[in-house]
Amino acid sequence: MLTVAVLISGTGSNLRALLEAARHPDFPARVVVVGADRQAEGLAHAEEFGIPSFTVPWHEHENRAAWGDEVARQLAVWKPDLVVLSGLMRLLPPALVAEYSPRLINTHPAYLPEFPGAHGVRDALAAGAEQTGASVIVVDDGVDTGPILAQERVPILPDDTEHSLHERIKPVERRLLIDVVRRIATGDLPLTSA
Ligand code: GAR
Repeated sequence: MLTVAVLISGTGSNLRALLEAARHPDFPARVVVVGADRQAEGLAHAEEFGIPSFTVPWHEHENRAAWGDEVARQLAVWKPDLVVLSGLMRLLPPALVAEYSPRLINTHPAYLPEFPGAHGVRDALAAGAEQTGASVIVVDDGVDTGPILAQERVPILPDDTEHSLHERIKPVERRLLIDVVRRIATGDLPLTSA
């Protein structure tokens, strides 16, 4: 059974989908802990599913490295086989990436390498693109530059707002994420750094 830690910043709707998938006896992975960089709304999903959680507040740490060291200490308690960034709106420091990558994956609401960074949905709209997408990648030291594990196109509609487009991308992200975690757990999807 693959053990998974999930790190979030926001509402955690993708986390919730993974928790729902993982409670099926046939699913080959279990979420063992949820972590956040703030008092994220999504921590409530962990509580509801009886999954332990931790918060390492970004603003209580002097710099990225100190914050990352504390996240690493918390993760070490659970020794997860895989760490999933699911809406964590922080770049991880190199030491944490080195410790877990390629067993460190991220969901992103765009068709990478298009529109990386914190505003993937907004940037696709601003560019006047006709389509964007969803991606699941291995985290490396760049910003959304790691190997792509799965991705799918999502059309942009003429009256789309950032919210409406993001809400159409998220179900695709969820499906990709659950499938990627399953395939990692069964060994069908080997993780490599490059
Ligand atoms: C998701 O769309 C995720 O891909 C995105 O934040 C959202 C979190 O939604 N992450 C990034 O943009 C990272 N650059 P959720 O909290 O409802 O799961």
